[in-house]
Amino acid sequence: MLVNLYMIKKNKNTLNHIAIIMDGNGRWAQKRNKPRIYGHKKGVKAVLKAIDFSLCNKLNVLTLYAFSSENWRRPIQEILALIKLFVCTLSSKIKFIHNNNICLKVIGNLNQFDSKLISLILYSENLTKYNTGLQLNIAINYGGRWDIVKVIKKIVRLIQRGLLDLNKINENTVSTLISLNHLPPVDLLIRTGGEYRLSNFLLWQIAYTEFYFTNVLWPDFDSKIFKIAIDAYFCRKRNFGGL
Ligand code: FPP
Repeated sequence: MLVNLYMIKKNKNTLNHIAIIMDGNGRWAQKRNKPRIYGHKKGVKAVLKAIDFSLCNKLNVLTLYAFSSENWRRPIQEILALIKLFVCTLSSKIKFIHNNNICLKVIGNLNQFDSKLISLILYSENLTKYNTGLQLNIAINYGGRWDIVKVIKKIVRLIQRGLLDLNKINENTVSTLISLNHLPPVDLLIRTGGEYRLSNFLLWQIAYTEFYFTNVLWPDFDSKIFKIAIDAYFCRKRNFGGL
């Protein structure tokens, strides 16, 4: 199934960009009497399946929420294990990412991470920056409010330097300065794990996004559920505030 062909047949909704809040790793592990990190490890397998599905269906952009600004509130052992998992996954999969023509971008506040992790991210982004296939965005230490505050600071600096006129600031000014600005808007946001909230993800960017919530816990997410979410999306009528 090619998403783009399939989509034209069903209705005129375009599907360029899917974002996912990957929730439920901890509960998945607890159900099996395993430590939470076991669920995160299985979660990585589901990430790889989601990437595979996106490649097979020629999706343009996939954005994954891997670590939120609020996740620092977790026990330190879990935070360290999550960071280690991210480093191991990125190091071992960067070749696969590059060979599959994937362009990787990490969004979020990287300042709080150690220089080794920052170097790995910059190396990976640099290696894949000219790739023309799937655009894969991974949000780590990301928060929608942080993203908006970052834009406000940029705008203030531009005004202070005389490069921007206060009266000329509009929605477009913010859209061009916020994360993912160069990409098509998020069409579909999927959240697993049975919670019905945004958890500070992409607040500005999802003004007209369609949401799909599922009780499936993230480690169980596979191509079948991905397809169900996409099918549901194509049944929606999007009018962006019009009639
Ligand atoms: C939410 O489940 C999941 C996370 C906070 C981490 C997501 C991380 C991964 C899937 C692995 C690393 C990702 C990449 C891109 C390599 P939770 O722990 O909040 O689950 P719970 O709600 O059941 O407690």
